[in-house]
Amino acid sequence: MFTASNELLDALRQQLGPDQILTDADSLTHYGRDWTRFAEPAPSAIVLPKTIEQVQHIVAVARRFEAPLVPSGGRTGLSGGAVAAAGELVVAMDRMNTLSDVNLTERTLCCGPGVITEQIQQRAGDAGLHYPVDFASSGSSQIGGNIATNAGGIQVIRYGMTREWIAGLKVVTGTGELLDLNRGLVKNNTGLDLRHLMIGSEGILGLIVEATVRLCTPPRNPQVIVLGLPDMESIMQVLAAFQSEIDLLAYEFFSELALQKVVQQQGLQRPFNEVTPYYALLEFEHLGEDTEAQILMIVERCMESGWVADAVMSQSVAQARALWRLREDISETLSHWTPYKNDISTTVAKVPGFLAAVEEIVDRHYPDLEVVWYGHIGDGNLHLNILKPESVPMDEFQARCKTVSAEIFTEIAAQGGSISAEHGVGLLKRDFLRYSRSEAEIGLMRSIKAAFDPDNIMNPGKVFPAQPSAE
Ligand code: MLT
Ligand code: ZN
Repeated sequence: MFTASNELLDALRQQLGPDQILTDADSLTHYGRDWTRFAEPAPSAIVLPKTIEQVQHIVAVARRFEAPLVPSGGRTGLSGGAVAAAGELVVAMDRMNTLSDVNLTERTLCCGPGVITEQIQQRAGDAGLHYPVDFASSGSSQIGGNIATNAGGIQVIRYGMTREWIAGLKVVTGTGELLDLNRGLVKNNTGLDLRHLMIGSEGILGLIVEATVRLCTPPRNPQVIVLGLPDMESIMQVLAAFQSEIDLLAYEFFSELALQKVVQQQGLQRPFNEVTPYYALLEFEHLGEDTEAQILMIVERCMESGWVADAVMSQSVAQARALWRLREDISETLSHWTPYKNDISTTVAKVPGFLAAVEEIVDRHYPDLEVVWYGHIGDGNLHLNILKPESVPMDEFQARCKTVSAEIFTEIAAQGGSISAEHGVGLLKRDFLRYSRSEAEIGLMRSIKAAFDPDNIMNPGKVFPAQPSAE
């Protein structure tokens, strides 16, 4: 456990004003954790830099006092990457939130790490362009955190993850050096692209202090269909049927149990009366009567094949929004049951077998546990949530989840999948990294960290334990 001395705080004060260093209990709790609740926040202090020079000063002080730093954005993460539970200094980017106008020639904008994702979407939209990385928490997450975790979301099937949209990055490394990476270039074949090392690095190499974000043409007239399906194999058949004819914007799924919970808790309408084990939500560009006829024909063929039992298509923006809520509100709804969350992926074709194997594992150990499924099925990304029964105390529930997760991770490794598809590793998955990455890969990751951060002050203990012997 690290403790910030008065001397350290005085050194910070040389370049930061009194309102930029917070040590009151409320701020320590607020800034010391993300959306996970498995570790108690215990930072020493919160620092709120306003400029790149102030970030460099904070890193210089941290080096001098061997103080661990935890970067903090919107703290909407689900793996504990922004949790400060060991006396760290939290570097909160809230005040580094300048947002440039859109550069229409380059189709980019430039922003500080503390800009809220939704503000980027709005600024792009005002200029007739589009920032396509989107997810339920985009109204509170910050772009710096999105980049550090390579955030995914609901339209990865069309647009890819955050990585695809970062044209340039400024980063202060663990030595305090400022790197200006790629500078917005489209083409730049000059050796290793360090920008891509930073994206998804969860703050273990440096602090992101500025980003140049790429924009695109907005999708035309997005419409939504929800389909009721008898089994997972059908979800895959339907995906193939649509993808052979149109470019989908999204292909999401949720189980009947997920639908029941979200409908009850949020007071929403079921999409149709038919009850099926699974539902798929598709989004596509509605380009006129031809598209509508084409979509209806595909749905009809899927129904004839027995893959679809019922369907509804949105007829307005408001109805599309209402259908999206059935999927997007699931995560918040389930927080009521303090779920054990797991974000996992395999290649798309392996998903049905993988899901069945996971259900068998949970059922064999604890048949009374409720398993809720949803996720970005078109990307092979499943969100597994196991709900805590009211009658089971928290410590017993956690012990049960630990038992099943060891077997689930073994299954993931056997299938060549990933223990974290989009939420990152953070603290939650760091002890399981070996199920997805080889010893050689983890060794190289450690060497890369040491090159950028020789004093191990950048988010130490995240992604992998601070000491190799603890793995
Ligand atoms: C989602 O897809 O809803 C988010 O990743 C959040 C979650 O997994 O609960
Ligand atoms: Zn997700």
